[in-house]
Amino acid sequence: MNNSPLLFEPMTLDGITLRNRVVVSPMCQYTSERDAGPTDYHLVHLGQFAMGGAGLIFCEETAVEDRGRKSYHCAGIYDDKHLAQYRRINDFLRAHGAVPGIQLGHGGRKGSGRPPWEGYRPLTTEDAARGEAPWTTISSSAVAPSATAPRPHELSLAEIADVVANWRDAAVRAANAGYDVVEIHGAHGYLIHQFLSPLVNQRTDAYGGSLDNRMRFCMDIIEAVRAVWPKNKPVFLRLSAVDGSGDAWTLEDTVQVARAAKARGIAVVTPSSGGIGGAGTGTLVPRAPGYHVPFSKRVRAEVDIKTIAVGLITEAKQAEQILQDGNADLIGIAREFLWNPYWTVHAARELGVANYHDLLPRTYAWWLKRRDEIREVTSKAKHIDSAPPA
Ligand SMILES: Cc1cc2nc3c(=O)[nH]c(=O)nc-3n(C[C@H](O)[C@H](O)[C@H](O)COP(=O)(O)O)c2cc1C
Repeated sequence: MNNSPLLFEPMTLDGITLRNRVVVSPMCQYTSERDAGPTDYHLVHLGQFAMGGAGLIFCEETAVEDRGRKSYHCAGIYDDKHLAQYRRINDFLRAHGAVPGIQLGHGGRKGSGRPPWEGYRPLTTEDAARGEAPWTTISSSAVAPSATAPRPHELSLAEIADVVANWRDAAVRAANAGYDVVEIHGAHGYLIHQFLSPLVNQRTDAYGGSLDNRMRFCMDIIEAVRAVWPKNKPVFLRLSAVDGSGDAWTLEDTVQVARAAKARGIAVVTPSSGGIGGAGTGTLVPRAPGYHVPFSKRVRAEVDIKTIAVGLITEAKQAEQILQDGNADLIGIAREFLWNPYWTVHAARELGVANYHDLLPRTYAWWLKRRDEIREVTSKAKHIDSAPPA
């Protein structure tokens, strides 16, 4: 590896420059305040990735309206009262050299539930007794997400327009809260995906049927967000590249959506997978290292758009190789950052980046540089001591 690996080359997207290509992928924490605002937990959780040198840090999927949350403790940005807390976190990330990004989302029929460690089970009347009443979820069609979950309310045309307007308003708030990048969450079985997938979308109006119709909701949202998001800041889109059974949602569909999204000003696509199952499906994509890289490669080549590769990318050399091979422009990492929040600076050292310490806060860098100098001197001295007599 040379001294300037691609992973550590800055990248400018519209008017926003990332110090490197390392992206903290969005990770829901189910730890927001009951009214969806972030807490000091989020400041520390996200702050550690900035102190460790990451280029772009996404906060978790953040709901554009209250019924778009997956649980009562999911993040939201549907009220101006949330902005000061988000701004405080973003100021901290920026002060440590990172670019703050927000992923805007809506859970649709996957809302009104409990966190992963309770099996995502739907809220019940028992939850209501302790102050967490189930709410009526929404979707493209009244198709329940599981045998135990209630059927969602099918949005009318007027209600679709209201939800799109809420995405627009959330984007305005996100800009006011100091975010520099917004990603529209169109993957993982959430509301946009519920419109894209024929397994859920059974509408017969302009939002159902053909692929053009099923992607209309996604395109409405892109247009609404792009119209209010600052011109010099990029908008990303996350899609499930494949999903469902029997080719219900294919990579070819994803390429078409990505093409239409690019025409509307999307700068980067994050191909992920899964979220809506069909009868008898297991995991469509085996969870091997770099399991979404082939999707990233195809979308990037066929649409001529920048992509993030994400999914079991844990090693510095693995990340660098993906970029060197031209299979992605940015590297998204989620769980490895939970294990090692300072992954970025460790990767920089491994890839031979000069002055890798400088990705750390100034105090850390000063002390660690001195420590390395001492270590070098000590190891040379040991070498001389242990040299055989001439
Ligand atoms: C705790 C956790 C929460 C997640 N929340 C989100 C989310 O809010 N939005 C999203 O698009 N993906 C979410 N993901 C998926 C990750 O962003 C990422 O795509 C996935 O974990 C694969 O990357 P990894 O192998 O580096 O973890 C989440 C993953 C984890 C582990």
